[in-house]
Amino acid sequence: MNPVTWPRIAAKNLRSDLDLTNEEAAQLLELTEQVKTRPEDYRTALSSLYLGLLFEKPSLRTRFTFELAIKQLGGDVVVQVGRINEREPVKDVARNVERWCDGIVARTLYQETVDELARYSRVPVINALSDRYHPCQALADLYTMRERFGALKGLKLAFVGDGFNVAHSLLITCARLGVDISVATPRGYEPKPEIVRAAESLATSSKVVVTDDASAAVKGAHGVYTDVWFSMGEETNYEQRTRDFAPYRVTEELFLQARTDAIFLHCLPAKRNEETTDAVMEHERSAVFDQSENRLHAQKALLLMLMGQREA
Ligand code: CP
Ligand code: NVA
Repeated sequence: MNPVTWPRIAAKNLRSDLDLTNEEAAQLLELTEQVKTRPEDYRTALSSLYLGLLFEKPSLRTRFTFELAIKQLGGDVVVQVGRINEREPVKDVARNVERWCDGIVARTLYQETVDELARYSRVPVINALSDRYHPCQALADLYTMRERFGALKGLKLAFVGDGFNVAHSLLITCARLGVDISVATPRGYEPKPEIVRAAESLATSSKVVVTDDASAAVKGAHGVYTDVWFSMGEETNYEQRTRDFAPYRVTEELFLQARTDAIFLHCLPAKRNEETTDAVMEHERSAVFDQSENRLHAQKALLLMLMGQREA
């Protein structure tokens, strides 16, 4: 018998970072540490459980890490690529897949699709990136900071670039975990005000700042994070966006304005010489591939806490 136990998440789904409590987010990072250091303890933890993975957009990291996570926990996966509502309504897809699978992981063009899957499915639905949130990414990223600095309290993360899905999830998850976050974007590309307000109301012991000053944002930061200027599904106005974002490129010069032990973070895929440079990607303090690895461990913790059969 497996001797390990773990806490459960009260919510049925992870539609966004808002579905976790502060305590659950912290517990998830603690469990991530356990599954990363002692993977053998969890080899049969989700035996005979099956995940349905639905992808409306391309993926390397999310697909590999969810497939491997469930398989390394004793379960298995079925993957479907294409528009979820191409042949039938989302609510019918949800009520089919829940009959065969114990959980649904969905990467969607629109957040509404994740929400509708969750509404109609009796099994957990996990957001694997929508146009609003990327909660699995933020959990792995905060785990990466915790791993690097030992603890999260007192840390500061600077996000420089597009105030889109990744920035939204980082705002909420940093606030939950007591990490200061400064988001620097060009005017017109700020994160959604309601998400900033949600982060502010969750941040009991940390600061939430939105600014157009990239240098001010990275000052004193333990992590400097960026994301692509052209997210999937948002590849329009190439010249205008490139002009608007150019002053927000994370160059070595900007990165070196953060703390001398700061790490560089990027969800990947990265466009070198757009949002960042080769020198920063390859910098000795670049943690981008640690983040990718940690997607696997953090998602194992998430699957255990959402789908696990034993309770702590
Ligand atoms: N960071 C991330 O989600 O990568 P993929 O788009 O390759 O899954
Ligand atoms: N903001 C990016 C993240 C990719 C992981 C996108 O949505 O394409």
